[in-house]
Amino acid sequence: MILRKFQSIASSSFVALLFSLSLHPLFSQAAVLDCKALFSVTSDSDSSSSKTWFSKISFSGVENILINEKVVKAENLKVAMTQNGKRPSGTTVGMLRLTFADGTMAIWKPGTWSPMGEVTAYKAARLVGSRLVPPTVLRTFDAEAIDHAKIDSELAGQLIGKTGSIQFFVETPIDLLNMNKEQRQTLWAQVPENQKNDRNLFNFVFGQWDLHWGNLLVDESKSIVSIDNSAIRNRQMVRYGELPYLRKFSFYRLTKNSVDSITRAAFPFDHPIILKNPSKADFTSLVKNFVEPLEIERFWHWRKDSADNTMNIIFWDNAIWIQAIGYSNYGPIRAGTVYSDKTLDYYRALTPEKLREVFPNKDFSDDYVREILDRRNQIISAIDDAAQSP
Ligand SMILES: Nc1ncnc2c1ncn2[C@@H]1O[C@H](COP(=O)(O)OP(=O)(O)O)[C@@H](O)[C@H]1O
Ligand SMILES: [Mg+2]
Repeated sequence: MILRKFQSIASSSFVALLFSLSLHPLFSQAAVLDCKALFSVTSDSDSSSSKTWFSKISFSGVENILINEKVVKAENLKVAMTQNGKRPSGTTVGMLRLTFADGTMAIWKPGTWSPMGEVTAYKAARLVGSRLVPPTVLRTFDAEAIDHAKIDSELAGQLIGKTGSIQFFVETPIDLLNMNKEQRQTLWAQVPENQKNDRNLFNFVFGQWDLHWGNLLVDESKSIVSIDNSAIRNRQMVRYGELPYLRKFSFYRLTKNSVDSITRAAFPFDHPIILKNPSKADFTSLVKNFVEPLEIERFWHWRKDSADNTMNIIFWDNAIWIQAIGYSNYGPIRAGTVYSDKTLDYYRALTPEKLREVFPNKDFSDDYVREILDRRNQIISAIDDAAQSP
């Protein structure tokens, strides 16, 4: 019922324009690879004496430092990045760069919602044998965990008694945000295909949709580092080959439209309201009966950097689901054609029980876990189909 209501609003207030997604060339490459390289499953016994990224750090060793060591230095992240000649990015308030007693550096993200997403994404990556996401832990600091002689009281106050995520800080001379499009493409072409494929697999299955150049690092050896993965927490509906619909707003006033079974089969993918680069006023008039003004403000603030706000919107199950077409630099996530058997075996072996070890009940619903497996099935079918086609 509610859907019909909004379709009529859509046809009167907004013109539904057809558009076609141009697939990003980076994600349409098919390549045959030797997947025994960097992204194949790793032992944890690598030396941790050198604090460089990827195969050179011991993940469990770093986790241990992040969770137990004393902080000897804390810097405002943006200040630290600017001092290092990097373009600062990110909107999370209160991020710090921490240095631990042994010299290990890390990013502190305060709070629980996003930090829980960061930690879970790290654990999910480990579950599928990937070193894509730097070691990340959840920590609540007590006063003894801070070296008070070295850290000023204001910064110490941002840590003591607070909970947040701590993620290993990957140092790299490469600043993707300071590059133009051509420079980035040249660099991206040097990143091993198996890493790109593994990243796509991870992003699709675990729902990392927030893909922009500020959420990705490339280190000096041209290895990918996936950062800022808290977007995996958003519920989403996606058909392989398309961009996901994100559940952006739950209605503050429940309607009678609740559906019994939140499954992809029931989701009305083919009946969106299409907003072609809407103004804030256009968007507001569509959603204002269901979304608090403050939520609309927050959403629009978040979107303000998008050159194109074009979106498809679906009202479903007491919520507004948005496919943010204009936001994506990438286009839909696509699998490559060849993976190591080992990588795919990890994905094939995922079960609700295994996922539950990483995605705890208190933070992730049964629907959420089922949707991970549904996405796994979709992308594995696409990979298998590609492998069988002549
Ligand atoms: N693990 C990390 N190693 C190095 N730099 C990082 C790491 N995590 C974040 N950063 C830097 O901090 C910036 C902001 O972090 P991010 O997690 O994206 O914050 P936000 O959630 O506010 O977008 C990133 O764009 C990157 O430059
Ligand atoms: Mg970010």
